[in-house]
Amino acid sequence: MSWHPGIPAAEVHDRGAVAVEADGLRLALFSLEGEIFATGNICTHAFALLTEGHVENGCVECPLHQGLFDIRTGRAQGTPVTKDLATYATRIEDGMVWIDTE
Ligand code: FES
Repeated sequence: MSWHPGIPAAEVHDRGAVAVEADGLRLALFSLEGEIFATGNICTHAFALLTEGHVENGCVECPLHQGLFDIRTGRAQGTPVTKDLATYATRIEDGMVWIDTE
């Protein structure tokens, strides 16, 4: 376990998707149905930041070639994306999001 503080949970819920860095990783925090999920923020297809994409039905759509990833599991939903995103555990403590980068 390697927990790192992110940003206030309220900011994630307000903005829906927020880019953060922790442990040298570029991560995405997503607000989904009252919970916060953390994934890698760089698309596994080419270089695009998923926090600049569109969130719908529990998935984020990459802004570059419209690849879809399930936010909860990181699972790639089909071409052009074939490699899943890494996902990271989160917890809320004193209103802050903490992310486990292990
Ligand atoms: Fe994300 Fe191509 S860079 S689908």
